[in-house]
Amino acid sequence: MNKENKFNIDEWFKKESQSFFRTKGIYPFLPKEYFLYKKTKVSQHPDIFNKLWLFLTTLEFIPGYIIETGTSYGGLTWIISDMCDSLKWNTKIITIDPFKTERNNKEIDYMIENCKHRVEYWEKNAWDEEVIKKIKNLTNDKLTLFFLDGGDKPKDFNIYKNIAKKNDRLLVHDFAKNKEYFTKNIFEKNIWMWNDAVEEDLSLDYIIRDNMFNELESVCWGTYIKNE
Ligand SMILES: C[S@@+](CC[C@H](N)C(=O)[O-])C[C@H]1O[C@@H](n2cnc3c(N)ncnc32)[C@H](O)[C@@H]1O
Repeated sequence: MNKENKFNIDEWFKKESQSFFRTKGIYPFLPKEYFLYKKTKVSQHPDIFNKLWLFLTTLEFIPGYIIETGTSYGGLTWIISDMCDSLKWNTKIITIDPFKTERNNKEIDYMIENCKHRVEYWEKNAWDEEVIKKIKNLTNDKLTLFFLDGGDKPKDFNIYKNIAKKNDRLLVHDFAKNKEYFTKNIFEKNIWMWNDAVEEDLSLDYIIRDNMFNELESVCWGTYIKNE
């Protein structure tokens, strides 16, 4: 494995400790970090419903695959799966997260039980070369949406953009175009408290902003198209 892609659990937990500030009541005004969908946690701003639906229903193609890095409890996976059901799409969803623990295993199993007609859960590190190769082979001739919400969002983006094909979409979470935008329009408006990716962190050769960029940025997703 490439040294750069090695998973660093210490770094991951350092980042996760941000939620400590809320649970200890140090910044009790902070926006909620999740909501429940079918009793399953979704770590998103609740307006994701409208924005995601708008995004999916204005795509000019039906995706063959949807790949999600960072399953967590599986709430977003379930929402996307239900939207695909409503649209009567045959799309397959693969969701990847190496940490299925006592924290989230019941929720992940519950989601899979209900979405097994289209969702596969891979208990893997999304940066593992074997995983990347497998995703590349599977999605090779199918238009694909990548929802990048794993342990390091710019890293997810900069890896998966290399296997994305022309017209595939790459969506990266906890995103704002820059820190100033995040502070003024997101954090100070009490919309979301995490900003793990700014445009400057992303490698954007052969990548352009999607038409839905502004819509999705309002719920902290950066939305891009591979154009070559
Ligand atoms: C913010 S949560 C994802 C939230 C989820 N997508 C949702 O909307 O509810 C980030 C997840 O990334 C996972 N993660 C961390 N490192 C990862 C890696 N290398 N590959 C895949 N997932 C990873 C963590 O275990 C955690 O569950």
